[in-house]
Amino acid sequence: MTVLIETRDLTARYGDFQALFGVDLTLGEGETVAIIGANGAGKTTLMRSLCGVLKNAPDSIRFEDRAIGDRPADEIMAMGIAMVPEGRKLFPSLSVEENLQIGAYGRQTGGYWSLETVYELFPVLKERRRNPGTALSGGQQQMVAIGRALMSNPRVLLCDEISLGLAPVIIKDIYKAVPKIRASGASMIVVEQDIGQAMAVADRVYCMMEGRITLSGRPGELEREAIHNAYFGAAA
Ligand SMILES: Nc1ncnc2c1ncn2[C@@H]1O[C@H](COP(=O)(O)OP(=O)(O)O)[C@@H](O)[C@H]1O
Ligand SMILES: [Mg+2]
Repeated sequence: MTVLIETRDLTARYGDFQALFGVDLTLGEGETVAIIGANGAGKTTLMRSLCGVLKNAPDSIRFEDRAIGDRPADEIMAMGIAMVPEGRKLFPSLSVEENLQIGAYGRQTGGYWSLETVYELFPVLKERRRNPGTALSGGQQQMVAIGRALMSNPRVLLCDEISLGLAPVIIKDIYKAVPKIRASGASMIVVEQDIGQAMAVADRVYCMMEGRITLSGRPGELEREAIHNAYFGAAA
């Protein structure tokens, strides 16, 4: 398997506070990898590092054969790594369609994703295309956020807690899109607090606690108790 993204001994700080301690992770071409962990474990910090919002040592993040740890977000997006940020972050004054079009800025040409294919993926967005993004339900806003990231035709799609705050039936709807996104050729890193959802969607899972990876493996090979300990800490 070709490795697309590799982090080596990745550390990240907010001023004096160290949020990541020596994170080693790989994402292979075509893979979907899930990152699970409790609130504050460092999942979002890891995503922000991968997409260039946080700067790191150049060699601590490699994309294909390039050291990208210190590259800015716009350059990383142009290389093909797109982020669906925690909390969706739509532009409130723009319509659904305009929010989607913004995602195509700096896109790779000739990819599968366009307004048409995003509307095929999430038909409700076509009906709502002239509505302001913020007039939509939470689930529909999440679909816009995913569609916006896809519009850049990414090689890697980073999704940070796309099910947060949504009803189970809506979460199911959104996760139905994942196989179609994979079929378009994108590899994915999916951050989830819902362990069951992560296990269902991912080829491999990493568990984080307090800025470190505490467990990794294929869903079928991980013991429930090991996951519990890696997620919450070993019982006292
Ligand atoms: N902008 C920030 N400034 C200072 N500390 C932060 C900032 N963002 C996150 N943190 C801290 O970094 C740690 C990891 O946070 P985060 O990556 O958001 O975790 P998760 O996404 O797993 O909930 C937490 O202790 C959090 O309080
Ligand atoms: Mg987070």
